[in-house]
Amino acid sequence: MSFPARAVAVGGLVSFVMILFAPAPPLLAPALVSYGVVALVLVVIWRRHADRVRDGVVRPLPRGAARARRVAVATAAVLVLVGGYAGWDWQTSKLPDDYRMTEQAMTYGTGPGPVDHSAHSHGAGLPDRPLTQFTGPAGKPDKRFTLVATDARLKLSSGATVDATAFNGQIPGPELRVRQGDLVEVTLVNRTTDTPTTVHWHGLDVPNAEDGVAGLTQDAVPPGGSHVYRWRAGQVGTYWYHSHQASSTQVRRGLFGPLVIDPAPPAPAGVREFVVAAHVFDTDKGDTSTLNAADTLRRESVPPGTPVRIRLINADNFRKYFTLAGTPFKVTAVDGGPVNAPTDLYRTKLMLGGGGRYDLEFTMPSAPVRLTDLAAVGAGLLLSPDGQGELAPLTDGPEFDATRYGSPAATPFGPDSDFDRSFDLVLDNRPGFYDGQPYYLWTINGHVSPHVPMLMVREGELVKVTISNRSFLEHPMHLHGHHVLVLSRNGHRATGSPLWLDTVTLLSGESYELAFRADNPGLWMDHCHNLKHAAMGMTMHLGYEGISTPFHAGRATGNTPD
Ligand code: C2O
Ligand code: CU
Repeated sequence: MSFPARAVAVGGLVSFVMILFAPAPPLLAPALVSYGVVALVLVVIWRRHADRVRDGVVRPLPRGAARARRVAVATAAVLVLVGGYAGWDWQTSKLPDDYRMTEQAMTYGTGPGPVDHSAHSHGAGLPDRPLTQFTGPAGKPDKRFTLVATDARLKLSSGATVDATAFNGQIPGPELRVRQGDLVEVTLVNRTTDTPTTVHWHGLDVPNAEDGVAGLTQDAVPPGGSHVYRWRAGQVGTYWYHSHQASSTQVRRGLFGPLVIDPAPPAPAGVREFVVAAHVFDTDKGDTSTLNAADTLRRESVPPGTPVRIRLINADNFRKYFTLAGTPFKVTAVDGGPVNAPTDLYRTKLMLGGGGRYDLEFTMPSAPVRLTDLAAVGAGLLLSPDGQGELAPLTDGPEFDATRYGSPAATPFGPDSDFDRSFDLVLDNRPGFYDGQPYYLWTINGHVSPHVPMLMVREGELVKVTISNRSFLEHPMHLHGHHVLVLSRNGHRATGSPLWLDTVTLLSGESYELAFRADNPGLWMDHCHNLKHAAMGMTMHLGYEGISTPFHAGRATGNTPD
């Protein structure tokens, strides 16, 4: 008895299809079906093989016309199957002209884990509460800002031009700086010619109706329109704001800016601050990496002995690597949250995922210090006592690991807590259609938005999310309205300072366990902050039972959040 070679080919083919369209997380039924298909085909091949081998004599396979006919029939069958699947995928991928982001998810979702997906907005006997009731506090604001969105042709420091859409005529938009506890009122005025837009406060856990997501928490503000956002600054640290309407295009074109919340008691005087937003702009000279729209070296003079804080924001889609040459430094905050007992880092490379932030602090030495984005080593920020001098950029070094940096401190929950709910999420990619167009899709548990089942929670619950990335690119996953505590990374418990993130970057092959308290009722985006991935399917929602949205998304509504 020998093993038919064609069995190997069948096994290989099925494995290949499984790699492209793997059921995720690994569920029993699809696995059994695919292994069942393999087993069935093997039995057929084996029996036919056995028919040909009798008494040690192998009868030849058909040749000539008979063989050609068999090959033709088999090829046609495969083409019909593949074509049929592609056609079906193409048709079903088309997005409705008008839909509720959350209803689609509930209608098409088949969720993993122990979540009751039937308990949507009318679940658990809770009264239906529209999210519009979760607004910021009334009263006289402590700080008022106006952000005017316009179309603008702007220049980078090199002179390269950007056809931008910008807040207040600048890229990035103006720095909004407030104090912890301030009641902040921001008026968005849309003076673009044809770009409906919104403002989302990235990393601020604001009330749901102030979250700025077109089609979920508000309608996009049309040209000529305006919208008022009100929220109290409960957090401290480095954040940013950006459009959440067609964000993959609008943020790219410049509709973003930094947002800094100073601590309530006056901050120690004399700290020299640099707020630096990294972003790639499309210019007349091609894609250009910038720090605050500078694509050339920027020089600043800082007297030796001055405490310096650099607030680094990655406003780009992809991860960036930064180095700071010329001084040891501390990472004093990650995603706005302070690091407990940070220690000095030397010649360390910092990876910052799209949407994330680091605060770096050091005391200015008497020689130059140079901040470099490794995507543009000739540019960057050079600090020196007289604004002159040279220092070569640091181009490599050991990589910073925030899960092992600083010292542990008390947290309200941790890896050993009893969780009320847990979710398993697998990020992946596969070829397919999105809204009738062929793409490489970015999937969550095999689904693309708006068909990704919602993560449904009840107010007050303690939630655990296990997330892994089996796709070939990194995904900076951003949950709105909450900060998640990192429990473990790649199976190792986080041992450093408690790490509270709003954007968790999973490199290819990585996995994280995260926890959060469901303490901010509403309907919240949870998506990849590579905004092109978000627009191509990698978007889901966190929903609180009993809460609904009156807003619709889709072509006919003018609302497209990603
Ligand atoms: Cu910074 Cu949903 O976005
Ligand atoms: Cu992604």
